[in-house]
Amino acid sequence: MKIAIISGSHRGESQSTKISKWLGANLEARGQGIEADILDLAHADIPFWDEGAWNVDSDLSTFMRPFLARMAAADAFILVAPEWGGMAPAMLKNFLLYLGTAQCGHKPAMIVGVSSGRGGKYPMTELRISGYKNTRLCFIPDHLIVQDCEKVMNEPALDSGSENDQHIKRRADHTLGVLVAYAKAFNSMREEHGSKLLDKEFPFGQ
Ligand SMILES: Cc1cc2nc3c(=O)[nH]c(=O)nc-3n(C[C@H](O)[C@H](O)[C@H](O)COP(=O)(O)O)c2cc1C
Repeated sequence: MKIAIISGSHRGESQSTKISKWLGANLEARGQGIEADILDLAHADIPFWDEGAWNVDSDLSTFMRPFLARMAAADAFILVAPEWGGMAPAMLKNFLLYLGTAQCGHKPAMIVGVSSGRGGKYPMTELRISGYKNTRLCFIPDHLIVQDCEKVMNEPALDSGSENDQHIKRRADHTLGVLVAYAKAFNSMREEHGSKLLDKEFPFGQ
Protein backbone atom coordinates (compact mmCIF):
# COMPACT_ATOMS: atom_id res chain seq x y z
CA MET A 1 0.00 0.00 0.00
CA LYS A 2 1.26 3.48 -0.89
CA ILE A 3 0.39 6.57 1.09
CA ALA A 4 1.27 9.95 -0.42
CA ILE A 5 2.13 12.62 2.13
CA ILE A 6 1.99 16.16 0.76
CA SER A 7 3.89 18.68 2.84
CA GLY A 8 2.19 21.98 2.10
CA SER A 9 4.65 24.53 3.48
CA HIS A 10 6.58 26.84 1.14
CA ARG A 11 9.45 27.07 3.64
CA GLY A 12 12.65 25.18 2.81
CA GLU A 13 13.07 23.89 6.36
CA SER A 14 9.57 23.62 7.70
CA GLN A 15 7.82 21.99 10.60
CA SER A 16 5.40 20.51 8.07
CA THR A 17 8.30 18.60 6.49
CA LYS A 18 9.42 17.37 9.92
CA ILE A 19 5.89 16.18 10.73
CA SER A 20 5.49 14.58 7.28
CA LYS A 21 8.66 12.59 7.90
CA TRP A 22 7.45 11.52 11.36
CA LEU A 23 4.16 10.33 9.89
CA GLY A 24 5.92 8.53 7.02
CA ALA A 25 8.31 6.75 9.39
CA ASN A 26 5.42 5.68 11.65
CA LEU A 27 3.50 4.29 8.67
CA GLU A 28 6.46 2.35 7.28
CA ALA A 29 7.32 0.95 10.75
CA ARG A 30 3.94 -0.81 10.86
CA GLY A 31 5.34 -3.65 8.74
CA GLN A 32 2.24 -4.08 6.57
CA GLY A 33 4.04 -3.34 3.31
CA ILE A 34 3.14 0.34 3.63
CA GLU A 35 5.27 2.76 1.61
CA ALA A 36 5.15 6.49 2.37
CA ASP A 37 5.84 8.82 -0.55
CA ILE A 38 6.56 12.31 0.77
CA LEU A 39 6.10 15.17 -1.68
CA ASP A 40 7.61 18.31 -0.16
CA LEU A 41 6.06 21.19 -2.09
CA ALA A 42 8.78 23.57 -0.85
CA HIS A 43 11.30 21.74 -3.05
CA ALA A 44 9.14 20.65 -5.99
CA ASP A 45 9.13 24.00 -7.90
CA ILE A 46 5.61 23.37 -9.13
CA PRO A 47 4.43 26.39 -11.17
CA PHE A 48 1.16 28.16 -10.62
CA TRP A 49 -1.54 26.33 -12.53
CA ASP A 50 -2.36 27.65 -16.01
CA GLU A 51 -4.28 26.39 -19.05
CA GLY A 52 -1.23 24.39 -20.18
CA ALA A 53 -2.42 21.78 -17.70
CA TRP A 54 -5.35 21.05 -20.07
CA ASN A 55 -2.99 20.29 -22.99
CA VAL A 56 -1.21 16.93 -22.63
CA ASP A 57 1.60 18.09 -24.95
CA SER A 58 2.43 21.32 -23.08
CA ASP A 59 5.66 21.87 -21.16
CA LEU A 60 3.57 22.23 -18.02
CA SER A 61 1.89 18.84 -18.50
CA THR A 62 5.26 17.23 -19.21
CA PHE A 63 6.68 18.75 -16.02
CA MET A 64 3.70 17.67 -13.93
CA ARG A 65 3.41 14.11 -15.29
CA PRO A 66 5.77 12.44 -12.75
CA PHE A 67 4.06 14.22 -9.84
CA LEU A 68 0.63 13.16 -11.04
CA ALA A 69 1.83 9.58 -11.59
CA ARG A 70 3.05 9.47 -7.98
CA MET A 71 -0.33 10.66 -6.76
CA ALA A 72 -2.20 8.17 -8.98
CA ALA A 73 -0.15 5.35 -7.44
CA ALA A 74 -1.27 6.27 -3.92
CA ASP A 75 -3.97 4.35 -2.07
CA ALA A 76 -4.46 7.19 0.42
CA PHE A 77 -3.28 10.73 1.07
CA ILE A 78 -2.13 12.86 3.95
CA LEU A 79 -2.31 16.63 3.45
CA VAL A 80 -0.04 18.48 5.87
CA ALA A 81 -1.21 22.09 5.97
CA PRO A 82 0.54 24.70 8.12
CA GLU A 83 -1.69 27.54 9.23
CA TRP A 84 -0.56 30.64 7.38
CA GLY A 85 -2.54 33.82 7.91
CA GLY A 86 -5.38 31.61 9.13
CA MET A 87 -5.35 29.75 5.80
CA ALA A 88 -3.93 26.74 4.00
CA PRO A 89 -0.81 27.84 2.03
CA ALA A 90 -1.22 28.84 -1.63
CA MET A 91 1.26 26.17 -2.78
CA LEU A 92 -0.95 23.41 -1.41
CA LYS A 93 -4.12 24.87 -2.94
CA ASN A 94 -2.25 25.28 -6.24
CA PHE A 95 -1.19 21.62 -6.21
CA LEU A 96 -4.78 20.51 -5.56
CA LEU A 97 -5.79 22.33 -8.78
CA TYR A 98 -3.70 19.85 -10.79
CA LEU A 99 -5.30 16.81 -9.18
CA GLY A 100 -8.47 15.11 -10.32
CA THR A 101 -10.30 11.82 -10.11
CA ALA A 102 -7.51 10.00 -12.01
CA GLN A 103 -5.23 10.61 -9.04
CA CYS A 104 -7.57 10.95 -6.07
CA GLY A 105 -11.04 9.66 -6.97
CA HIS A 106 -12.64 7.97 -3.97
CA LYS A 107 -9.42 7.60 -2.03
CA PRO A 108 -9.24 8.46 1.68
CA ALA A 109 -7.28 11.48 2.87
CA MET A 110 -6.21 12.61 6.32
CA ILE A 111 -5.71 16.30 7.05
CA VAL A 112 -2.99 17.55 9.38
CA GLY A 113 -3.13 21.17 10.54
CA VAL A 114 0.16 22.59 11.86
CA SER A 115 0.83 25.61 14.04
CA SER A 116 3.74 26.94 16.07
CA GLY A 117 1.13 28.35 18.47
CA ARG A 118 -2.44 27.35 19.28
CA GLY A 119 -3.73 27.40 15.69
CA GLY A 120 -3.98 24.69 13.03
CA LYS A 121 -7.76 24.39 12.76
CA TYR A 122 -8.30 26.95 9.99
CA PRO A 123 -6.39 25.09 7.25
CA MET A 124 -8.12 21.86 8.32
CA THR A 125 -11.59 23.37 7.99
CA GLU A 126 -10.64 25.16 4.76
CA LEU A 127 -9.57 21.88 3.15
CA ARG A 128 -12.67 20.08 4.42
CA ILE A 129 -14.85 22.73 2.77
CA SER A 130 -13.05 23.12 -0.52
CA GLY A 131 -10.53 20.41 -1.29
CA TYR A 132 -12.64 17.49 -2.50
CA LYS A 133 -15.20 18.54 -5.10
CA ASN A 134 -13.36 17.84 -8.37
CA THR A 135 -10.82 15.41 -6.92
CA ARG A 136 -13.39 13.25 -5.05
CA LEU A 137 -10.88 12.97 -2.24
CA CYS A 138 -12.63 11.49 0.79
CA PHE A 139 -11.48 13.28 3.92
CA ILE A 140 -11.74 10.88 6.86
CA PRO A 141 -13.46 12.17 10.01
CA ASP A 142 -10.29 11.92 12.10
CA HIS A 143 -7.69 14.62 11.55
CA LEU A 144 -4.63 15.83 13.39
CA ILE A 145 -3.96 19.32 14.74
CA VAL A 146 -0.30 19.71 15.72
CA GLN A 147 0.06 22.78 17.93
CA ASP A 148 3.33 24.05 19.46
CA CYS A 149 4.79 22.14 16.52
CA GLU A 150 8.41 23.04 17.19
CA LYS A 151 8.26 21.30 20.58
CA VAL A 152 6.66 18.02 19.47
CA MET A 153 7.27 15.09 17.13
CA ASN A 154 11.03 15.58 17.21
CA GLU A 155 11.64 11.95 18.22
CA PRO A 156 10.05 8.84 16.70
CA ALA A 157 9.28 6.99 19.97
CA LEU A 158 5.70 7.40 21.24
CA ASP A 159 6.87 7.38 24.88
CA SER A 160 9.57 10.06 24.58
CA GLY A 161 9.27 13.79 25.20
CA SER A 162 6.84 15.92 27.20
CA GLU A 163 3.28 14.92 28.09
CA ASN A 164 2.01 17.09 25.25
CA ASP A 165 4.47 15.51 22.81
CA GLN A 166 3.48 11.99 23.84
CA HIS A 167 -0.21 12.86 23.57
CA ILE A 168 0.03 14.18 19.99
CA LYS A 169 2.23 11.26 18.94
CA ARG A 170 -0.23 8.71 20.36
CA ARG A 171 -3.03 10.59 18.62
CA ALA A 172 -1.06 10.60 15.34
CA ASP A 173 -0.34 6.88 15.68
CA HIS A 174 -4.06 6.17 16.20
CA THR A 175 -5.19 8.41 13.35
CA LEU A 176 -2.72 6.83 10.92
CA GLY A 177 -4.16 3.42 11.86
CA VAL A 178 -7.62 4.73 11.01
CA LEU A 179 -6.36 6.01 7.64
CA VAL A 180 -4.81 2.63 6.80
CA ALA A 181 -8.11 0.89 7.64
CA TYR A 182 -10.00 3.29 5.34
CA ALA A 183 -7.41 2.78 2.58
CA LYS A 184 -7.92 -1.00 2.67
CA ALA A 185 -11.70 -0.68 2.67
CA PHE A 186 -11.75 1.93 -0.09
CA ASN A 187 -9.44 -0.18 -2.28
CA SER A 188 -11.91 -3.03 -2.25
CA MET A 189 -14.80 -0.59 -2.78
CA ARG A 190 -13.10 0.88 -5.88
CA GLU A 191 -12.31 -2.62 -7.18
CA GLU A 192 -15.94 -3.66 -6.85
CA HIS A 193 -17.66 -0.48 -8.02
CA GLY A 194 -14.91 1.32 -10.04
CA SER A 195 -16.69 2.71 -13.09
CA LYS A 196 -19.95 3.34 -11.22
CA LEU A 197 -18.18 5.71 -8.84
CA LEU A 198 -17.09 8.13 -11.59
CA ASP A 199 -19.56 9.21 -14.23
CA LYS A 200 -18.24 11.30 -17.14
CA GLU A 201 -21.51 13.23 -17.17
CA PHE A 202 -20.79 14.65 -13.71
CA PRO A 203 -17.01 15.29 -13.60
CA PHE A 204 -17.12 18.36 -11.40
CA GLY A 205 -19.29 17.16 -8.58
CA GLN A 206 -22.20 19.39 -9.48
C1 LIG B 1 3.39 33.54 6.32
C2 LIG B 1 3.09 32.89 7.64
C3 LIG B 1 1.86 33.07 8.25
C4 LIG B 1 1.58 32.44 9.47
N1 LIG B 1 0.32 32.56 10.02
C5 LIG B 1 -0.01 31.80 11.09
C6 LIG B 1 -1.36 31.78 11.58
O1 LIG B 1 -2.25 32.42 11.05
N2 LIG B 1 -1.63 31.00 12.64
C7 LIG B 1 -0.68 30.22 13.25
O2 LIG B 1 -1.00 29.52 14.20
N3 LIG B 1 0.61 30.23 12.82
C8 LIG B 1 0.96 31.00 11.76
N4 LIG B 1 2.25 30.99 11.28
C9 LIG B 1 3.28 30.23 12.00
C10 LIG B 1 3.26 28.75 11.62
O3 LIG B 1 2.37 28.11 12.49
C11 LIG B 1 4.66 28.18 11.77
O4 LIG B 1 5.50 28.70 10.75
C12 LIG B 1 4.71 26.66 11.80
O5 LIG B 1 6.06 26.27 11.95
C13 LIG B 1 4.10 25.94 10.61
O6 LIG B 1 4.65 26.32 9.38
P1 LIG B 1 5.85 25.55 8.63
O7 LIG B 1 5.35 24.18 8.28
O8 LIG B 1 6.14 26.40 7.43
O9 LIG B 1 7.01 25.46 9.59
C14 LIG B 1 2.56 31.63 10.08
C15 LIG B 1 3.80 31.45 9.46
C16 LIG B 1 4.07 32.05 8.25
C17 LIG B 1 5.41 31.79 7.59
